[in-house]
Formats: sequence, C-alpha cells, structure tokens
Amino acid sequence: MSDTEEIRAQALEVAAGWSGPDAPDAWQLTAALFRMIAEHEVLLGRLADLPPDRLPALLAGAAVSFLVQRDRAAPLARYFPEPGGPQPPFDAGFYAAAEDLVSSRIDEILALCHAHRYQMNEVGRSTQIALGITATTGGRGDPIGLADLGTGAGLGLALDRYRYRIGGQAHGPQDAQLTLTCELRGVGRPPALRLPPIADRAGIDASPVDLQDPLSRAWLQACAPPEASSLARLSAAIGVASQTQPAIIAGDAVGMLPSVLRSLAPGHSVVVVDAYTAVFLTAPELSRLADVLASAAEKRPVTWLSLDPLVPLGRAGRDSVQGLPLPSWLISDYQRHGVFAVLGARTFHGTSDTGQLLARAHPSGQWVEWLASPGAELSVRQATASEPAPRPRRQSARG
Ligand SMILES: C[S@@+](CC[C@H](N)C(=O)[O-])C[C@H]1O[C@@H](n2cnc3c(N)ncnc32)[C@H](O)[C@@H]1O
Repeated sequence: MSDTEEIRAQALEVAAGWSGPDAPDAWQLTAALFRMIAEHEVLLGRLADLPPDRLPALLAGAAVSFLVQRDRAAPLARYFPEPGGPQPPFDAGFYAAAEDLVSSRIDEILALCHAHRYQMNEVGRSTQIALGITATTGGRGDPIGLADLGTGAGLGLALDRYRYRIGGQAHGPQDAQLTLTCELRGVGRPPALRLPPIADRAGIDASPVDLQDPLSRAWLQACAPPEASSLARLSAAIGVASQTQPAIIAGDAVGMLPSVLRSLAPGHSVVVVDAYTAVFLTAPELSRLADVLASAAEKRPVTWLSLDPLVPLGRAGRDSVQGLPLPSWLISDYQRHGVFAVLGARTFHGTSDTGQLLARAHPSGQWVEWLASPGAELSVRQATASEPAPRPRRQSARG
C-alpha cells in the first residue's frame, strides 16, 4: 500500500517538472493536472490502495486523460489537446472542471488505475540516447547491436529513423516522419550526433504495448503528458513503429537479457539502452544486470547506456543506478530542484568495466546538459559515490 503523502509528493514533483519560469505555456495543463491530483484528498486516499511501484499519481493522471480523450468529457475536454492538434488555451477554470470530473467519476478512475500499468513511452528521449551512443561509439561508424530494456512500444528501437534538431543543428534522415528537437543547456557540448548503422535490434518489456490493439494505443496516449508536442511526436513514432514492427520480447529485462544478447548478430559491439527502466529495478536486480553484461562482454564489448533519475526515487535520490560517481553539486541540485535524468555509460570489455557520467537530461527529451569530458572514464569498481567533480560555470536551475 502507498502512503498518501508520498503520492502527493510524486504528483507535486511531476507538476514541478512541468512548471517554472521558463516553462512554455503548453506545459501549464500537465502541471495543473498533477497539482489538482496533489490537492484532491479523496483521490489520494483511494490511490493509496495501489502499491507504490505502480506509480499511483502518474496512473491517476493517465486515467483522467484517458476518460477525457475517450468521452470528450465536457467541460474538461476543451483544455486537452487532440493528438496532432494545437494546445488549447489554459485558464483557471481548469481546476473546477478537473475536480468535478475526478469527484464524479472516481470509481472509474480507480478501476482504470487498478487495471493498467503506467505505460509512458517517451520517444523524445531518443535524442539523449542517440547522443550517448555517439559519444560511446566514438562516431566510428562500425555497426552495433542494440537492445532496449523496458522498451514499452519499442519507440526507442527506431532511433536511427528519426531526424534530430539539437541546439539548432539537424542530423539524421531528411525524409524522417518524425523530427525531435532538443535544446543544449549549460556550457558543455556533446559530440556531433552520428549514429552507427544498427545491425540488429531487440527490445524487452515486462508488459509490451501492442500497437495493433486500439485500447493499448489509447492507454499509451493517455500516459503521455497532455501537451500538444508530446502527443504529436508520440503519434508520429507510433506510425514509424507500426511500419517497422520492432522485435519485442515479453518478460523481465534482466531475466531475458542473456538470450536477447545471444540472439543479436555476432561480430558487433552491443549497446544496451535503458531509459527510465533501471530505476524500477531493485539493488540485487541491478547487480544481476551488471553481471549479465560483464558475462556477455567476454565475447564482445557491451555498453550499458542508462537514462534514469537518481535512486531512491523521489527527492532523496542521490545515487546513479549504474553506480557511477556523481559530483556533489549535481546531487544537491537534484534534491533541491529534482526532475531530471542522468545519462551515463558503463562499458564492459573483457574484464574491464569503466563508466562515465555523460549528461543530465530533461525527462521528455526537451533539453540536455552535457557534462562529460573526454578521457574521464573511470573504472567502476574503483569508483565511489559523490566524488568531487568540477562544476560547469553555468547551471540550469530547474530539472
Ligand atoms: C517508464 S517506462 C519507460 C519506457 C521507455 N524506456 C521510455 O523511456 O519511454 C518503463 C518501462 O519499463 C518496463 N519495465 C519495468 N520493469 C521492468 C522489468 N523488470 N523488466 C522489463 N520491463 C520492465 C515497463 O513495462 C515500462 O514499459
């Protein structure tokens, strides 16, 4: 069972990620939706029946979006964008309309929360992952094998089919059906994006999203923030995935990984991506994951690219899921402002195991702040948490 104060804190944390002085107007609805959830005592009390690992606050947001989208529930529906449509104007009338819908349909909301897992698949994270692949493969152009843990609908498996606009520079196929835009923050600069050819690819998910099933697709859309650009990129990515039909194995990421790694075409280095997945693994599962990767690295180099919040989840987060040392200023920024992910790479090759903090990153791929300096890889076994590291001269204040 969950604690109502923890659910409230989770809702407020999401709201904080979608607000702040430089938040675009289109983010107001998402911030307000989670603020409303944080203030709805009856809803919080009912959500406490769900275990914390089901992410009750996020489930509630998805359930409200699902009902609004399915039923075009008036008057709340006028605040929510249609996929592919513009962001409707926001005003304070939202709060009364949202509270009214939640209070009058609370049983339906809870039924949806109990019946579904929170299934957000944020294709925008592909930009940050693509930069991580560029940085760790050195832009050499040798083909790689790609495995995506917690792949959801497999949107991250098609990352070489998207076009990217990073800090004003465009990369990737010109005829791509989806262009992802990412702002560069801070003073560090990532390498120019250059993805190697992907020789083979596969994803694993405990509950994969079947894009052919209209209800699964509708729930996936409901789990996306109700923000026009999020919904537009999700629709475009669903279009790409529906055409390419990525191989997705149903099962536990750590349990299925050895066979997935064996199934990838031999002769290539492998990049194992985890975006917002390892954060849900327990410490023994994380340790087993590292063992699986180390064992696969007896045959070929394997890089684990992680884009995850700090653990434990929430404001007390202080550690990288990969066991990478983090500078203390980054940890205190996380604890004060929260809501960013850390992009890290851990490379296993023969008996060596080295890691590097690459960047911090917006949870929906809207910005990246590059932190890596060339040659800064550390042996992970020697590393300790919270080592001092130079702080970039300018820091973004908000996650
Ligand atoms: C927050 S979502 C992230 C999805 C996707 N990686 C992204 O960044 O958009 C986490 C995903 O991991 C999956 N998941 C969680 N624990 C898992 C596990 N132990 N094994 C496999 N998949 C898992 C969930 O089903 C969900 O699809």
